Amino acid sequence: MKLSREIQDSIELRFSTLARQMNGRGERIISFGLGEPDFPTPPAVVEAATKAMRQGYTRYSNPMGLPELREAICTKLARENGIQVRSGEVMVTPGAKMALSLALASVLRPGDEVINILPCYPSYLPQILIAEPEAVIHNLDLRRENFSLDLDRLEQMLSPKVKALIINFPHNPTGHMLSRPELNGLGHLLAERDCWLISDEIYERLNFSGTRHLSPGSMPALAEQTITINGFSKTYSMTGWRIGYLVAKEPVMKIVNKLQQHLNTNVVPFIQKAALAALALPDSFLDDYNQRLLANAQRLAEIVAVTPALRLQPSEGGLFAFLDISQTGLDSDTFCSGLIERYMVAATPGIYFGPAWEDHIRISLVTDTVSFTEGVQRLQEYVGTLG
Ligand SMILES: Cc1ncc(COP(=O)(O)O)c(C=O)c1O
Repeated sequence: MKLSREIQDSIELRFSTLARQMNGRGERIISFGLGEPDFPTPPAVVEAATKAMRQGYTRYSNPMGLPELREAICTKLARENGIQVRSGEVMVTPGAKMALSLALASVLRPGDEVINILPCYPSYLPQILIAEPEAVIHNLDLRRENFSLDLDRLEQMLSPKVKALIINFPHNPTGHMLSRPELNGLGHLLAERDCWLISDEIYERLNFSGTRHLSPGSMPALAEQTITINGFSKTYSMTGWRIGYLVAKEPVMKIVNKLQQHLNTNVVPFIQKAALAALALPDSFLDDYNQRLLANAQRLAEIVAVTPALRLQPSEGGLFAFLDISQTGLDSDTFCSGLIERYMVAATPGIYFGPAWEDHIRISLVTDTVSFTEGVQRLQEYVGTLG
């Protein structure tokens, strides 16, 4: 394939690999780089996959996904997200990443413009360019004071050429969750506009904000134009299984169905059976885990509060916090290199999430509270040496 712009490596993969290598050499690295939960895939899910394999769910199957799984996803969407759809409006994909790629490839044409929110999950930009190498990308930075959407700026950017807006809440990397006023603002700005809203909700169940996750697809004004992206990777610790899904109205579904037929054929059927078992887990299944993420987020906030060179807008959901290191005078790459080399703590430089964010670093909240606390103390010590 000929691409007009260079596609970057996946940064998150590079960083977690480095931390794993150093750990393998016996160096006691504390990783703040992890982008996946650290609990094992639930046993009931593993059992369901094994059973389905034995039952012969090992052959080509429906490109849209097994009907029983799509029905279960519809029930989940209605119950948890307030999104009312038929099973023909749901397609099971190999991970949320592929759902995003298929969505972008189905809606973008040469010369179309896309608004992307920064900082962002680093795969969005390559994915836009893979889907449509001639796409024009406009970046909209979140507000610095609280990571909320700058709706005034968004309004200015929304020309008739803009055909898609990508959002992701709970947000990677800031941990910001979409608020009701932000959602209403999106409804006000986008309704009746010829612009798709691609809403990546992969972190929806990792929520320690005490408030409900809001899905744009539940809003009548946005329901027709919203493409909801979700998956099993983060909620059920199934990152290696590669299963996600895409929810959209018929015009999009017609195209993504054809793309899926030619690109992926179908998602592994026994993994779809495992996903069905995951959806049957009780609502309370993540309660303890969310408590742990909250405890780590609070621990970080406590230490930042007594470290003058650091600032933090508390994280509300997802797996990350985005720490402001501007007062240290270092750029994020230099800061993170020193942190790992001198204090053996791996964090991800903010620059990887957007050019204007080199004065931030991303801290993953995923690790046991004892290691997390030690990592944050090492971070504090390191900052103390920077003068
Ligand atoms: C915002 C966001 N979207 C999508 C993905 C990819 O999810 P999946 O593993 O289902 O492809 C990630 C993974 O880190 C992510 O952070």
